[in-house]
Amino acid sequence: MKCLTVLFTIITLSECLFKISLERRKSLRKILREENLLQDFLLKNCYGFFCAQYLPFAKNGHVSKEPLLDFLDLEYYGTIYIGTPPQKFSVVFDTGSSDLWVPSVKCSSEACLKHRRFDSSKSSTFRRTGKHFHIVYGTGSMKGILVFDTVKVSSLSISHQGFGLSTTESGKAFVNMTFDGILGLAYPSLSEEKATPFFDSLMKEGLLEKHQFSVYLSRKKRGSEFIFGGIDQSHYTGRINWIPVNYQSGFWQIALDSILVDGTEIACKGGCHGIIDTGTSLLLGPKYEMIKIEKAIGATPTHFGISEINCSELSNMPDVVFVINGIHYPLPPSAYTLKDKQVGCFSGFGYSFDGSWNLGDVFIREYYSIFDRENNQVGLAKAV
Ligand SMILES: *[C@@H]1O[C@H](CO)[C@@H](O)[C@H](O)[C@H]1NC(C)=O
Ligand SMILES: *[C@@H]1O[C@H](CO)[C@@H](O)[C@H](O)[C@H]1NC(C)=O
Repeated sequence: MKCLTVLFTIITLSECLFKISLERRKSLRKILREENLLQDFLLKNCYGFFCAQYLPFAKNGHVSKEPLLDFLDLEYYGTIYIGTPPQKFSVVFDTGSSDLWVPSVKCSSEACLKHRRFDSSKSSTFRRTGKHFHIVYGTGSMKGILVFDTVKVSSLSISHQGFGLSTTESGKAFVNMTFDGILGLAYPSLSEEKATPFFDSLMKEGLLEKHQFSVYLSRKKRGSEFIFGGIDQSHYTGRINWIPVNYQSGFWQIALDSILVDGTEIACKGGCHGIIDTGTSLLLGPKYEMIKIEKAIGATPTHFGISEINCSELSNMPDVVFVINGIHYPLPPSAYTLKDKQVGCFSGFGYSFDGSWNLGDVFIREYYSIFDRENNQVGLAKAV
């Protein structure tokens, strides 16, 4: 049957499901679900009135999982769909910023040309505004225009979501990234687009069971995920420790008590502040502090801003312990060391460009992180 052989291409699900028998419908759904493709197929092919009954979209009180792909333990990205019919994009779910943007078909920067670009002329639900904005990230910057359209992530759909279309992407930073754009999950006050951030839209529309999301990052290519609306107990062991967030900063910022190696406080003396940032690959801090940590673990700085570690020395290296709210969060060498086929082993600690502490993927891989907007707190638990 045609419907079953061309699952991913031409036929919309509505046509397909309409023509085939109930039995076949079930098996089609089963095949797609087993292959983990149902969601993708529905999102890509199913829109319009008829389809609504087949869509798994949340109405309210929902927990929705978005799988992430892991690129070399440095970039984790998921898939979103924008417009009608939906156009597909890879994005980083970034807790260190609050804007959503993807490249515009009108952007001719090298970074845009190398990625998927949104073509607004092909979306019937697209709305433009005259507003321009500019965002500077740690690794690059972009300029764009604010627009509105339907945005879908996993089983969540927002019909009039503000987001950015980049018209220029500066610097080399975005050129070779595996993702097309960024979906920011920090507080609205950080938004440069001055639009309601996607997660705030989900909260406003009451789509989620809880006003929280959680992040599990694995070292495997698959298995990492963002969970909108709740927590998955299979991702951690022991208890969750909750830490108040200084949300006035707009970031998921928490207070750190100190950083210890072999029981001695070597950095963050007397306390410091750090943000939990899924959009940063490494664990970054002020240069003068990071030099002390590198020294304590025996890493050798190089000219390239990374420090090398002797791969055969891992078992002799100390834990670096982050003390947060009185609780110890050790990072063992296996957690703070990254391996690259060409470079060998290098340290997951790096220098932040603005002297802030940035607990990125290196930390989150070790500690399943829950971002709770209801109570403005972050939960950390040992990831498994
Ligand atoms: C991007 O990757 C290509 C191919 O690997 C390389 O030649 C180029 O220098 C890279 N560009 C940047 C800006 O890193
Ligand atoms: C790495 O450590 C091993 C074992 O301790 C040692 O034999 C080797 O010389 C070290 N390599 C470098 C480049 O320092």
